[in-house]
Amino acid sequence: MVVSSATIDSLLKEGEQYVPPKEFTARALVKDDSLYRDADKDFEKFWAGQAEGLHWIRKWDKVLDWQEPFAKWFPGGKLNVSENCLDRHLTDGRRNKAAIVWEGEPGDKKVFTYHQLWREVNKFANVLKALGVKRGDRVTIYMPMIPELPIAMLACSRIGAIHSVIFGGFSSKAVHDRVLDAESSVVVTADYGYRRGGLVALKKAVDEGIADLSIVKHVVVYKRASGDCAMKEGRDAWWDDLMAKADDWYPPEPMDATDPLFILYTSGTTGKPKGIVHSTGGYLVGVASTHKLIFDIHEDDFYWCTADIGWVTGHSYIVYGPLANGATSFMYEGSPDFPKQDRWWKLVEEYGITIMYTAPTAIRACMRWGDEWPQGHDLSSLRLLGTVGEPINPEAWRWYYRTIGGSRCPVVDTWWQTETGMILITPLPGISTLKPGSAVLPFPGVSAEVVDETGAVAGVNKGGYLVITKPWPAMLMTIFKDPERYKATYWSQIKGKYFTGDGCRMDGDGFFWLMGRIDDVINLSGHRVGTMEVESALVSHSQVAEAAVVGKPDPLKGQVLVAYVVLKSGNHRSPELVGELKKHVRAEIGPIAVPETIYITDKLPKTRSGKIMRRVIRALVSGQEIGDTTTLEDPGAVEEVRKWLAAVEGKAP
Ligand code: WTA
Repeated sequence: MVVSSATIDSLLKEGEQYVPPKEFTARALVKDDSLYRDADKDFEKFWAGQAEGLHWIRKWDKVLDWQEPFAKWFPGGKLNVSENCLDRHLTDGRRNKAAIVWEGEPGDKKVFTYHQLWREVNKFANVLKALGVKRGDRVTIYMPMIPELPIAMLACSRIGAIHSVIFGGFSSKAVHDRVLDAESSVVVTADYGYRRGGLVALKKAVDEGIADLSIVKHVVVYKRASGDCAMKEGRDAWWDDLMAKADDWYPPEPMDATDPLFILYTSGTTGKPKGIVHSTGGYLVGVASTHKLIFDIHEDDFYWCTADIGWVTGHSYIVYGPLANGATSFMYEGSPDFPKQDRWWKLVEEYGITIMYTAPTAIRACMRWGDEWPQGHDLSSLRLLGTVGEPINPEAWRWYYRTIGGSRCPVVDTWWQTETGMILITPLPGISTLKPGSAVLPFPGVSAEVVDETGAVAGVNKGGYLVITKPWPAMLMTIFKDPERYKATYWSQIKGKYFTGDGCRMDGDGFFWLMGRIDDVINLSGHRVGTMEVESALVSHSQVAEAAVVGKPDPLKGQVLVAYVVLKSGNHRSPELVGELKKHVRAEIGPIAVPETIYITDKLPKTRSGKIMRRVIRALVSGQEIGDTTTLEDPGAVEEVRKWLAAVEGKAP
């Protein structure tokens, strides 16, 4: 495999270590390593212990039924997720505690106590029922970062419907594909969302996306802005009108632990997004326990995860984990630099945020904007910091630790995926020694290894593939309607082990150092995009014959996309066409997938069997060593590709 120079860099800096401050450990939920030892002895018993923390309508018969590669966690058990996140807090002393505190980008504010949130969720559960949604039906949700988004999700879980949330930054085409795949009869959206001072026309995108889909019977529209959008008679209704008529009690549906809770579409190595299916019981046990222990949640914490709920981080660590734990979860609608680059730090100061969880790409952006922005605010309420989404470079880690955390807050670098549902590799803040750039160790009860292609454990500091060697409660159940793809993607590379698709190495202390994706999935500002999806989008343009898309390292964004495009004959390169192609990708997938650079070329380098040599292009574009050239049919091809690249880049329009 390809080893980047960044890895060598991190090897050199490995000496740097940070131990948790004594005051932090003294108050921490986890103060010693007994949890690791107990979980090692009997991981099923460990997870059963974590499951005891939830409310079960019926206790499970068995902790785990493992028929590789399909796991059933807590079979026989019955529970309801919204009851665990809401009802039980009405009687445990948290009835009037803030559950969700929200600020919109224009500065409007809302607070929902557990009791208020419970009422809204009950009402929306009745709204969905009145629209004919039944247990097991899929409801598509495409909304901005407003409290009505988690309300809609929790209402689905209350009635046993499966939600499919689509990130509000995706295009109408993405809405079309996901509604179709999930076969949703109901879509919940908003007229607009606010982003960087502008408006995102969500309802319009829904209208375009479902124009030809007769399966959609109802669209519920929350009025976030002017309400100035088209409403289709008989199909569309306003959220407020439906809620005004809805009763505020709906009995929580007793769900099987093994019933699906939600589908979340994510990028893979083919052009078709994968519908990752998560379970009810195992998922909730996984996210509640990791959220509590990794973020060291105390009753008086004010916790903020800056992710969008359209991604898995928001599902697990804005909605389900925090609410299951009775925490106060802060939500912010907009971007960090609106109206100025200190918006986040203003929020931390004003609300007294104690725990902040964000992405390395955002940290690098803040770092670039300059220290004066955070320094103008009192950030002393913070006591713990977290990161997720991509490897964090030690420089950004140190900046986050010192400038934001005042050198007093541990930083938990958490590794996980849409598929894993919960954090799998992470420090525990009260006890872990931290090394900037390392996600430290598997969470108690989780077992991971770094292996080579044959499945043999890689030696100390040798690069290899990260695999998970035992099932974990929040693991994906399958890919929606495609169990074969589930098997092929995750369980066919290394026998008996879950294949993560990430490169990794383990150091002499057993610490895990993640090295990024080893397949054709690119991490763009912490968000996953498959290069094949972008290629299919480009090829769907009428003038494009072929395309190759690769990732290129970028100091700010982590990676950016570079596209090489061959036109159908009779078409000519021009700067206008490049602009048009970018627009086309934006319309097909969304702004996050637009390539930074598009080169138009006469041909793409191919192997003799006709495959585009993406691996070679990618390695050369990233300035990496070409690893194993033996699998190339023609090792001389590397030189050819090098020449081709120089020619293409020299001729950019
Ligand atoms: C990457 C996001 C290094 C990794 C929760 C993984 C990370 C992909 C880290 C999943 C981390 C996530 N260090 N890399 N702490 N966290 N990744 O599905 O490549 O959007 O496979 O889930 O992000 O992205 P996804």
